[in-house]
Amino acid sequence: MSDHRPAKTGRILSGMRPTGRLHLGNYVGALENWVRLQDAGWTNFHMVADWHMLTTGYEDTSHLQQNSWDMVLDWLAAGLDPARSVIFVQSAVKEHAELHLLLSMIVSKARLERIPTLKEQIRDLGMDEQTISYGHLGYSVLQAADILLYRPTHVPVGEDQVPHVELTRELARRFNFVYCQDRAPVFPEPEVQLTEFARLRGVNGNRMSKSVGNTIMLAESAEDLAKKVSQAYTDPKKMRRDDPGRPEADESDGHTGCVVWEYHRKFNPSEAEAIAVECRAGRLGCVADKKSLSAVMAEVLAPIRERREKWASDPDAVRDVLNDGTKRARQEARQTMEMVRSAMGVKSVVEPA
Ligand code: TRP
Repeated sequence: MSDHRPAKTGRILSGMRPTGRLHLGNYVGALENWVRLQDAGWTNFHMVADWHMLTTGYEDTSHLQQNSWDMVLDWLAAGLDPARSVIFVQSAVKEHAELHLLLSMIVSKARLERIPTLKEQIRDLGMDEQTISYGHLGYSVLQAADILLYRPTHVPVGEDQVPHVELTRELARRFNFVYCQDRAPVFPEPEVQLTEFARLRGVNGNRMSKSVGNTIMLAESAEDLAKKVSQAYTDPKKMRRDDPGRPEADESDGHTGCVVWEYHRKFNPSEAEAIAVECRAGRLGCVADKKSLSAVMAEVLAPIRERREKWASDPDAVRDVLNDGTKRARQEARQTMEMVRSAMGVKSVVEPA
């Protein structure tokens, strides 16, 4: 299902739950790819999935707005250009709720319960399966609605989102089969588009996550960046500068691979191989290696930090971006819903208010 063919062009829809400022894992796993596709002439739709935040935490909504704002600033900082990409807020386009409801009719409860992402979430949150809400069970159906409303050809997301897109494809197929026998299918089946570098580990070598506290933020200051890199996991057997090091993982003692090298490959690809050679030979110590990595990363991330500051200093401009993007998204969503209602034969006999 993943697509590693060279980019043609097409239309993408992708989004993120607004959890606040983004870290490098978010950037590398998805955002960077969005920008690349935008720059290659694709048609981009990017959504702040604020309703999805309610599926796992409906009581405390106090941070939703600020977190949405911070995330959008990071999107703009990373290079999403509102002149070319539609940036919008899910809850401001009510068609998401309508399509979610209609799709919820054509999927079984058992199918939703089998979604691995949901199972993981239940486990991670320490929830009792019996207490899961109707809305949380429908997480993927809402995501399918988010996607299908814009009839995209591709959905560029991180690895963890693949099961949701799989369900989206099934629902598209099912909808077309049930309601479009005598007409053109309403929904193209969108393909997942994974990045080559779909995952970047946190500084301690585990999955990068805010709750673990092992993140490097996208807009990290050069100073904090150096501090975090200095604490990064390296080969535990390399105690001194002239000990030979192992950039790669080694199952024999559970070494998961040097995080500093992983970052070199991502942010410093032209030098990564030479660095590995020096490390293996015991000619490069971790302290020096981390210093050079911090410098390179600070340089790569500097334009992002600068763009963020520029947008952050002009909140009216950011508001315009969201208002305009939401308007454009709504237009698209309305057209799709016309097609959906017509195919389903649920056009009301009364005029909608
Ligand atoms: N589930 C996604 C996440 O946790 C957010 C999301 C909601 C999304 N709707 C989407 C992603 C549609 C891609 C397409 O980040």
